[in-house]
Amino acid sequence: MAIFCGAIALFGFSTWAALNDALAAPVTILLSGTAIFVLFTVLHDAAHYSISTHRWVNVAFGRVAMLFVSSLISFKSFAFIHIEHHRNTNDDDGSDPDHFVSGAPWWQVPFRFPLMDVPYLTFLVRNVKRRPRAEVVETSVLMAASVAVIVACALTGHLWTLALLYLIPERVAMFVLAWWFDWLPHHDLEDTQQENRYRATRNRVGSEWILTPLLLSQNYHLVHHLHPSIPFYRYVAAWRRNEDAYLERDAAIGTVFGQQLDPSEYREWKRLNGKLARLLPVRMPQRSSARAAEFHPVPVAAVDRLTADSVLIRFDMPDHLRDKFAFEPGQHITVRTDLGGEGVRRNYSICSAATSDTLEIAVKHIPDGAFSTFAMEQLQVGDTLELMTPTGSFGTPLDPLARKTYVAIAAGSGITPIFSIVQTTLAIETESEFTLFYGNRDADSTMFRHELDDLESRYADRFRIVRFHSRDPRHPEHLRGRIDRIKLEGWLPDRVDEYFLCGPVDMVTDLRDLLLERGAEPGRVHVELFHGYQKPRVAEGFTPAAVSVTLRGRHHEVSLTAGDTVLESALKSGLDAPYACLGGACGTCKAKVLLGSVAMEQNFALSAADVEAGHVLTCQSHPITPSVAVDYDV
Ligand code: FES
Repeated sequence: MAIFCGAIALFGFSTWAALNDALAAPVTILLSGTAIFVLFTVLHDAAHYSISTHRWVNVAFGRVAMLFVSSLISFKSFAFIHIEHHRNTNDDDGSDPDHFVSGAPWWQVPFRFPLMDVPYLTFLVRNVKRRPRAEVVETSVLMAASVAVIVACALTGHLWTLALLYLIPERVAMFVLAWWFDWLPHHDLEDTQQENRYRATRNRVGSEWILTPLLLSQNYHLVHHLHPSIPFYRYVAAWRRNEDAYLERDAAIGTVFGQQLDPSEYREWKRLNGKLARLLPVRMPQRSSARAAEFHPVPVAAVDRLTADSVLIRFDMPDHLRDKFAFEPGQHITVRTDLGGEGVRRNYSICSAATSDTLEIAVKHIPDGAFSTFAMEQLQVGDTLELMTPTGSFGTPLDPLARKTYVAIAAGSGITPIFSIVQTTLAIETESEFTLFYGNRDADSTMFRHELDDLESRYADRFRIVRFHSRDPRHPEHLRGRIDRIKLEGWLPDRVDEYFLCGPVDMVTDLRDLLLERGAEPGRVHVELFHGYQKPRVAEGFTPAAVSVTLRGRHHEVSLTAGDTVLESALKSGLDAPYACLGGACGTCKAKVLLGSVAMEQNFALSAADVEAGHVLTCQSHPITPSVAVDYDV
């Protein structure tokens, strides 16, 4: 219905513009021809009764669309002729009306394309006795009316106007329709529909991102011949869902460039080329271009309620900051604002896909939490918050050609970084699979509940969610309660390439131990904590030190008092060093030790490789040598 309205509007516009001399003749022909081409798809789906379950709706749309495509034939006659084409595809005994082009010698093909209604009318005349009287009368009236209009226009000097507005665009559209709907899917196939319905029509595979919208899905015309009642916009999805079954039956497949593929060649072609072809429109995630984490004011574009106690905040990123706020899935940003004269800063994971152009965070309300209460109750579209450029390294590099198995385990708001990771991974790695174990109190308290459902439907073959509910007596018993070792054991896939864990400290540390006990490599178990353990501060055993700090390209000398962390000494000296959680969990305060040594109290953010490379969390680092140098810029 949408393309019907769009095509009628386009035809109306080009007609009006041509009548007012506002468009050159070639442009009018192009626009009106495009509109007629699109209207054929409406007519085609109407002929198969796949626009609506109400028969009269299909007939109504079909009748209108038919007038544009060919005013010589009634909708009912067209539907009859077209169904005969389905029944007898590729038969050269005259029972397939479309064989006029699909079976033509190559040199006649361009001349036959714009005359497709000639074999249709001939076919109708040959079968006139089989058709209902009303249908024959309707077609006869339409033919007579069409001839009368042409003659009238010629006698009144308007023939060129009629040709420009309708006759030429109609022939141009018919040329393309015969070429794309008939010749491309059927030419040079020897089997008829009766003999082998899988080889009487072919699919053209590859470059779907451009061909599917351009051909209105007729690049998958075989799906249409196998399942004529499926509407055109579902052909590709139907093929993908049943691909193995079609290949088992030796379905006819050609590439965009005409190469014919048998099922094993197709599988190989898909492995080598298909992924690249599908990847073209996907943008790869980039890291922030900022040298070191820094704050910028950014307006709020939307504040939407996610659950009763959480909101989704989308930012309106100014163009000049886009590169600085580029992010990888799993990264987070720190929000700083002034609430009642008091500066607060909080760290939130980015939950939007890194392949998208949006930056979103989700804020869950914490009783007495200053910022979360403000976000839930007062924050409005147009307000400005100070955002620190993205930091963190929870995610893992993605490879479009990878074929991996991922598992994520999240509880409550722990879904936020994982939601970004899941969306981005599924979009980029088109062969990888993802299983998400997600724990919540109940369905209503589940953040991104509907978005995850949609994602699961969209990637049904590669994405699975196992939902645990701790306070929902109607939830299946084996999925009731919190996620723990016992529950998880039975669900984990045998071979997993990467794990992502985010949620309460106890759950995350316990499940991480479980995965390591099961043989997972430590570097493949990625952990994100929103809060570190609140360990009592050790006050003894530390010494003062001279600390050299490199921050945003400048060097500063700082004196560190015994017991202070490197971060505290930098902040006390007035430096705007980056930090957020102060608990060793977020990694925002990461720096590299260039000289001397430090001891970290706790570390939930850096990987073993990071530590090996000399990185430390400055919020947790105490010097153990008299001089220390750290660099926040590397
Ligand atoms: S500020 Fe979060 S780990 Fe240091």
